[in-house]
Amino acid sequence: MLDRIWPLVLALLCCLAALAAGLLTTLPASPPQGQPTPPEPADEDLARAYVEAQCWHCHSVSQRQDELSRLGVLAAGARPAGPDLSGVGGLYPDGWHFAHLWQPDAVSWHSHMPAQRHLFALGGKAGSANLRGEMVPVPSATTRKAVQYVQTLMAPSPQRLPWPRGRHSLTDSGSVVEGKKLFAELCSGCHGADGGGKSAVSAFFEKPPANLSGGIMMWRSTKAPLPSYDDLYTTLTNGLPGAGMPSFAHLSESRRAGLVAYLASMHREEFNAYEPQFAEVLGTDAPAFTPEMVERGRALYRDQEYYKCSDCHGADGRGDGYLRGEVLRSFGYGPRNLVAERLRRGYPEGLYVTLALGLGRAMSGYLKDDASNEADLWALVAYVRSINRFER
Ligand code: HEC
Ligand code: HEC
Ligand code: HEC
Repeated sequence: MLDRIWPLVLALLCCLAALAAGLLTTLPASPPQGQPTPPEPADEDLARAYVEAQCWHCHSVSQRQDELSRLGVLAAGARPAGPDLSGVGGLYPDGWHFAHLWQPDAVSWHSHMPAQRHLFALGGKAGSANLRGEMVPVPSATTRKAVQYVQTLMAPSPQRLPWPRGRHSLTDSGSVVEGKKLFAELCSGCHGADGGGKSAVSAFFEKPPANLSGGIMMWRSTKAPLPSYDDLYTTLTNGLPGAGMPSFAHLSESRRAGLVAYLASMHREEFNAYEPQFAEVLGTDAPAFTPEMVERGRALYRDQEYYKCSDCHGADGRGDGYLRGEVLRSFGYGPRNLVAERLRRGYPEGLYVTLALGLGRAMSGYLKDDASNEADLWALVAYVRSINRFER
């Protein structure tokens, strides 16, 4: 067993080292990224719920030894069958956790965590409609609190390496056949067997797993409605933190390339039609952020002539602007809370592209045709990063 795993572990370490080296040399001068967030003060009520939900039977929480032993349980886990949960806080949205407890192997391939359906009201036999009108099992009050507790486990932990960030370029062309096989294993649990975005767990997500076989794809750097191969590769490599889409950086480049080839094959005609527009990919490097830029960004954010960010995201970025209700009704999910939630693409260039091109139909792009407002957009990027708890 060990001799089969070692080469993998070594390859992974090499990959990570190369990645880190790459990031270090290519990162523009900007504030240090991904600063660890200090642990939240533990709420005794939440800790008790975690104990009651019996997560500790299988999980250790090394960073909360004292607190858990005070509650009379083994912080080291009774029969540690699952990973140490330190550092898992904020990595996934609540919906991911409920989906994971409902059907672990849908969100995490080959998971041997048993489904925890007793943690849902009436053992999951009752459901209620989500914002999109789909029936979804309702987690009990204790389960909600246990998940909230897990969300406070945010201190950096040696057990959990941060997901990669930034943009990545594909050098391998990848095999559609291999990609298709990997998709069935790793992706279909969330995105559905046909990639259409409907699966046994999709109703749990506030914003459901994307429809990959039709419609608009949002996490791109192209003006065309479809992403470039590098965009897809970047999404797979970094994951979409905060959305529930995990990083697949642990797969070799050629396997990720296979997945990209398979995703592109679902749109073969459109990909061919849009190919020339990929030349328009935006690729500006981030300037060094200064306190003045943050202040300018703060003003632009509240500007009522053109940017109007506060109409949706609220005066302080908490997602509670006056248009919130309307956005919820139209799309089934609301404007992001830019303060408390982990951003999907929070690194400077990623945020710039988001503001320049917008996100799907819910948020429009702000880059003017003559690109005369590039500096404004960078100021807004500086501001958003300064208020987000995971980026500042
Ligand atoms: C019977 C054992 C068992 C119980 C009980 C259990 N888990 Fe797990 N858990 C596992 C195993 C095994 C894994 C690894 C496989 C996977 O990711 O699904 C895991 C994985 C996880 C992960 C993913 C961690 C990561 O690194 O991505 C989270 C989060 C988690 N469990 C939370 C919980 C919570 C919250 C509870 C209590 C409500 C709980 N688990 C109860 C066995 C268990
Ligand atoms: C745990 C559930 C989950 C798994 C597993 C998962 N995804 Fe996703 N994925 C999501 C969610 C949720 C989104 C939507 C995020 C958003 O737009 O905010 C998403 C979005 C995407 C997007 C971006 C689409 C766009 O609009 O640009 C791509 C591409 C993608 N997934 C591909 C994959 C592939 C390929 C795999 C398997 C290797 C995979 N996903 C596995 C949940 C998942
Ligand atoms: C009409 C409403 C609306 C307006 C106006 C708006 N947004 Fe958004 N914004 C949204 C919605 C909805 C989302 C979530 C989109 C999604 O994930 O599909 C979002 C997402 C975001 C994100 C999250 C990106 C990530 O990586 O997770 C950022 C940052 C953001 N908006 C910043 C801004 C800024 C800055 C402005 C002003 C220049 C602005 N928004 C204007 C509705 C709006």
